[in-house]
Amino acid sequence: MNLTRSNSLLPVPSGTLQISELPKPFKSFDEAPIKLSLIIPTYKEAANVQTIVDQLSSLLDEALPQAYELIIVDDNSPDDTWKIAQELMPKYPQLQVMRRVNERGLSSAVIRGWQASRGEVLGVIDADLQHPPELLLKLWGEIQRGGDMAVASRHVDGGGVSDWSIVRRFLSRGAQILGLIILPGVIGRVSDPMSGYFMVRRKCIIGQRLNPLGYKILIEVLARGRVPWIGEVGYVFQERQEGESKVTSKQYVDYLRHLIRLRFSLGPVGRLLRFGLVGFSGVFIDMIVLYLLSDPTTLGLPLTRSKIIASELAIINNFLWNDFWTFGDIARRQPGKRQRLKRLLKFNMICFGGLILNVLLLNLLFNIFGINRYVANLIAIAAVTLWNFWLNMKLSWRVTDLQK
Ligand code: GDD
Ligand code: MN
Repeated sequence: MNLTRSNSLLPVPSGTLQISELPKPFKSFDEAPIKLSLIIPTYKEAANVQTIVDQLSSLLDEALPQAYELIIVDDNSPDDTWKIAQELMPKYPQLQVMRRVNERGLSSAVIRGWQASRGEVLGVIDADLQHPPELLLKLWGEIQRGGDMAVASRHVDGGGVSDWSIVRRFLSRGAQILGLIILPGVIGRVSDPMSGYFMVRRKCIIGQRLNPLGYKILIEVLARGRVPWIGEVGYVFQERQEGESKVTSKQYVDYLRHLIRLRFSLGPVGRLLRFGLVGFSGVFIDMIVLYLLSDPTTLGLPLTRSKIIASELAIINNFLWNDFWTFGDIARRQPGKRQRLKRLLKFNMICFGGLILNVLLLNLLFNIFGINRYVANLIAIAAVTLWNFWLNMKLSWRVTDLQK
């Protein structure tokens, strides 16, 4: 053991919440990769740290001698949890402690811990003993069998909750169903997406920009990581003996915001939603400019001229949002003013084409099929939005025309 390490706190990583590769070759013994880094996030857990560290250490000293580390990440708890943990370090050589002062929150605490770690497998467990420590070995077993991730679940064989009221069970399941509706491809991958007790191979999340909100770090990792094989192990969520839960109604709101944020950022559906929202913003620009230019109480310019200017401004507005946001990932790989101008011109042409198509469709649906004019208009707008989206993706932000 090297003496400087045994008592000093781990420096807090800063910048984006992104896990990097382990240094290869490593420069000192402290950088040598190990098998497992287990993060224990704490906030006001003074009464629990000693017990959890002791139980985890005896389990892991046997299963993975010298090949694991425990990292307590404490958010400057007023009960001095970090200090108590630091005092445990000489007795538990695999223990490390991080004290965060400038940042707060469970999910970011876990990621900061992983960033400072050197494990090939990254894990997390609550400090309050609600997650049974023994289960760790079963989770590790799933990883040994080839799993990319192992999740402790309350909803598979051997799993459950202790003494939860009907209301609490209902809220918990309701949150899960809501998640399934908004993000089926993520929430549907595990039986207990709310679990805060799991392990994942570092390689599955290296380089992914994580952006979690609230408590549900597992959802963030599932959504943004590459995790082909997931093993699940049942456990009973224990009652808390010491300290108190930090869950408030804010966590429910954060969960919902987290789901919506992921929905907008993932995959082709997310892109289409972004495109749709941008299109919606354009309608407002168009309306406001039309009012400012053509209304008798404002400038009172001729209608057609006003409408052309209003549409053009809306198109430029939409282009900028799409270039930075909807197709931002692609645009960043086609840098330079000239390239951007080219994209703007193509976007503009496609939008004009869309306008003509809109008028034709509206006429077709209304005059030939006899559909109510407003319903017909809505259908036409939806169809043209899809058409615009597809053409712009293929032509303006050409996915095939990328600089690596
Ligand atoms: N560093 C840090 N910062 N730790 C925090 C914070 C924070 O802001 N908030 C909570 N923690 C720590 C707690 O000290 C505890 O170790 C763990 O995170 C879980 O917090 P609890 O307040 O005990 O949460 P819970 O019991 O309601 O919820 C747990 O169970 C859920 C259901 O499986 C958590 O593990 C959730 O992640 C899990 O989803
Ligand atoms: Mn708890």
